Amino acid sequence: MQPVTLRTARLGLSIPTLDDADAITAAAQDPEVPRWTTLPSPYDRSHAEDFVAKAAVWWQEQSELTWGIRVDGSWVGMIGLHRTIAGGSAEIGYWMAAAARGHGYVTEAARAVIDFGFAEPLSLARIEWRAVVGNLASARTARSLGFRYEGLLRQGLSDLRGRHDGWIAGILAADDRTPQPWPMLAD
Ligand SMILES: CC(C)(COP(=O)(O)OP(=O)(O)OC[C@H]1O[C@@H](n2cnc3c(N)ncnc32)[C@H](O)[C@@H]1OP(=O)(O)O)[C@@H](O)C(=O)NCCC(=O)NCCS
Repeated sequence: MQPVTLRTARLGLSIPTLDDADAITAAAQDPEVPRWTTLPSPYDRSHAEDFVAKAAVWWQEQSELTWGIRVDGSWVGMIGLHRTIAGGSAEIGYWMAAAARGHGYVTEAARAVIDFGFAEPLSLARIEWRAVVGNLASARTARSLGFRYEGLLRQGLSDLRGRHDGWIAGILAADDRTPQPWPMLAD
């Protein structure tokens, strides 16, 4: 499919481009990014350039739909639907540049991405969220979006650094998105 641009009250979401490579590379230096995502570490500009090129192919294939999250046009984070199967499921993933965290941007961006995923043409039945056990920031984000905690994936996540226990949650197209209790989140 052709890359889709989404807009929210404060954000623009559009395919990452080479113009974003410096900002992506700088943001990926934060140790919290490789700690909780599959991004390589060390991360240099060639990784960002490679990712930008792949993102264009993945949009064409409709396999992974990746958006750069932009404030006033500047790249501040990444969000995507991975392993996308129209009429079936996809997995949401996101990460923000450290300086842009704490403003609710990722939650706002994710609402738009979830609405897009459940609407035509993708018409997803289910969107999944997975995170390495302990990633409370991501868990809070997912819970506030209406994801429901579904369980623990023992050594169920893998990246360049090895295997990890994972949390899994899901949201269905018809779900009420009111936040539900999650066992590892007290409030
Ligand atoms: C996860 C991440 C994208 C959240 O970004 P953010 O800009 O802080 O998110 P928001 O401002 O929209 O806040 C979302 C929720 O996370 C909570 N939160 C943010 N940072 C937190 C932290 N360090 N510990 C616990 N909760 C945190 C907020 O309080 C908010 O919860 P609420 O909705 O219950 O009030 C960001 O921390 C990040 O990029 N982390 C590194 C990469 C990563 O972990 N990606 C996800 C992989 S599964």
